[in-house]
Amino acid sequence: MRARRALLYMPGDDLHKIRKALTLDVDCICMDMEDGVALNRKAEARQVIAGALGELDFGRSERMVRINAIGSGLEEADLQAVLEAGPHIRPDCLVLPKVESPEQVRWASGRLAAAEARWGWEAGGIALVILVETARGIVSLREILSAGPRLQAVVFGAEDLAGDIGCRRTPEAWEVYYARSALVTHAAAFNLQAIDMVFVDFRNLEGLQAEARQGAQFGFSGKQIIHPLQAGPVQAAFTPSAAEVAQAQRVLAAFEEHQKEGRGAFALDGKMVDMPILKAARRVLERAQAAGYH
Ligand code: COA
Ligand code: MG
Repeated sequence: MRARRALLYMPGDDLHKIRKALTLDVDCICMDMEDGVALNRKAEARQVIAGALGELDFGRSERMVRINAIGSGLEEADLQAVLEAGPHIRPDCLVLPKVESPEQVRWASGRLAAAEARWGWEAGGIALVILVETARGIVSLREILSAGPRLQAVVFGAEDLAGDIGCRRTPEAWEVYYARSALVTHAAAFNLQAIDMVFVDFRNLEGLQAEARQGAQFGFSGKQIIHPLQAGPVQAAFTPSAAEVAQAQRVLAAFEEHQKEGRGAFALDGKMVDMPILKAARRVLERAQAAGYH
């Protein structure tokens, strides 16, 4: 699966920010129709995003569009703008906010399949990424994440969740700890990427780095971002370092040697290595490869 270390949002009605995003070498560019766009600018956002998809070169960045939530009354026009405007207007990925049921995932999957068939796009080629950011969504993760093969990643929305639960956001984020942890665990169970919460204090890069590192330690594969300053630090935090890659390769080599000798557990640098450690090392190498190491 492609790397989604940093997922940068910008309001879809702001062409300047979309153009700016193209210069940042960011994994994912998510043009927003939802909460980053004022109600009286939704039509403008649809038009600008369709134009950007049709005309701009996104380079290696994934072209994502976040539509309004299913049931908002806006989703139909949102989808039409990016799936029914013509064969040359095609996002790489549809981002669905505030998902609470598997039916919503299936509905969106159906719409993507229909557009692919209509325009002759590769079947199953458009990815689906969902945000789970309500209490109901968190308690339904298991059902939601089993809703089909098009789903590639699940994103944690801390701010919306806090509003829904009625908790107050703090820098330590203990108030959303259960949900954050549940999300990353469910994502792993269904072999999906997990993308961590936004760090809203965007000029505080030290705080961002700490939270991004913590997210990587939790098992998240990436993080949502809202400002160009956040792109570099976040992509770095979710890329294994050269030292981590070298260590993972050492573990793999040592493991194979010991397997040949009939030993499943052994010591390396004074620490035990057995199957779970090997699996973790393999994951490091997978991430490194997805991030462009060879
Ligand atoms: N994507 C692309 N470019 C962005 C950007 C973003 N998310 N946020 C800021 N920029 C650009 C600005 O346009 C500006 O460009 P310029 O130097 O060419 O004029 C530059 O980066 C510096 O921006 P800055 O002045 O520091 O920020 P701001 O005050 O203009 O904007 C925010 C601050 C928070 C309003 C803005 O970062 C933003 O809109 N973020 C995304 C919000 C969003 O999408 N929310 C919904 C999802 S959670
Ligand atoms: Mg949200």
